[in-house]
Amino acid sequence: MADRVVLVTGAAGGKGGQTGRHVSEMLLARGVPVRAFVHRLDERSDHVRALGAELFEGDFLDIRSVQRAVQGISSIYFAYPVQDGLLDATAAMAVAAREAGISRLVNLVMLQSSPDAPTPRMRQNYLSEQVFDWAGIGAVHVRATVFYENLRSLVRLSLPAEGAIRLPWGKDSTVVPLVSGEDVARVAVGLLTSPSVPAGASYRLIGAVLALRDIIATFGRVLGRDVRYEEISDDEWRRDVIARGFNEHAVEHLSQLWRTFRTFGLRPQATRFEVTDTIEALGGAKPKTFEAFVREEQSLLQGHADQTRS
Ligand SMILES: NC(=O)c1ccc[n+]([C@@H]2O[C@H](COP(=O)([O-])OP(=O)(O)OC[C@H]3O[C@@H](n4cnc5c(N)ncnc54)[C@H](OP(=O)(O)O)[C@@H]3O)[C@@H](O)[C@H]2O)c1
Repeated sequence: MADRVVLVTGAAGGKGGQTGRHVSEMLLARGVPVRAFVHRLDERSDHVRALGAELFEGDFLDIRSVQRAVQGISSIYFAYPVQDGLLDATAAMAVAAREAGISRLVNLVMLQSSPDAPTPRMRQNYLSEQVFDWAGIGAVHVRATVFYENLRSLVRLSLPAEGAIRLPWGKDSTVVPLVSGEDVARVAVGLLTSPSVPAGASYRLIGAVLALRDIIATFGRVLGRDVRYEEISDDEWRRDVIARGFNEHAVEHLSQLWRTFRTFGLRPQATRFEVTDTIEALGGAKPKTFEAFVREEQSLLQGHADQTRS
């Protein structure tokens, strides 16, 4: 597959894990041609173009735009941001990919993807997997846990300013499974470039399982300062992140997710989270540790870097 063009959605990166940007960079570094599906032309799209990608300015929600984007390509990386419209975008991509005879689509979803998953977005993820499977386009599903980048954006104001982490995460013994967006991209690239992958397969990705107290200790150690946790209510957290511009869809998803993590240890039947071997097996390297991620982001988390970043 290595000589065929890959359509990478979210290729300029956004407010989440920027997995599309990482996937584009990694494919181009391997000499795989990339058509970068970008929402708008700006300095982020300039970056992927400078690396050698062909730019396609398009809209997930416009079927005509998606149909044009898939012409002449062989495989697709599909990552729809955490906002309204996932099922419309899925249907448009499934139709366009089927018409174009696509043989592989790597679909990024969340860790739990089932009819009974705890958040509305996760249940939509399940439906999107079904639609891609029916389309007969060689879809495979990457089911990733919460990104380190997500946690970074949650603390990036209060941590540099006050050494505080304000979240509705319950006790500091609450356990959270995490992964880096870069590792997710590495796995996606492994699946996009592998000679054969069973259609319909799904891969769980957990790169680290940390108690909140470990997360606090890591921030404190790397940033060289005292870091305190302030437990806030769900309502306080909602008000805070909506004021910061988080969309309602993401807030609803994350509120439910925090509730799940908070109460997880209380359920006697709960299966423990464990680091998965899929990252090393498909991505070719051990998962990035949370400590390594915080070191990379030290400048931002100390308040020295570009404060417009998410
Ligand atoms: N965040 C987490 O913790 C987490 C955990 C597990 C799985 N995931 C999954 O990760 C996926 C998101 O991937 P990501 O975090 O890599 O994305 P991301 O960094 O948020 O980037 C999203 C990209 O999509 C573009 N975009 C937005 N609306 C568009 C539209 N209508 N048409 C075309 N492009 C559009 C954005 O462009 P603009 O910025 O220009 O609008 C941006 O480049 C989701 O499916 C989510 O379920 C996330």
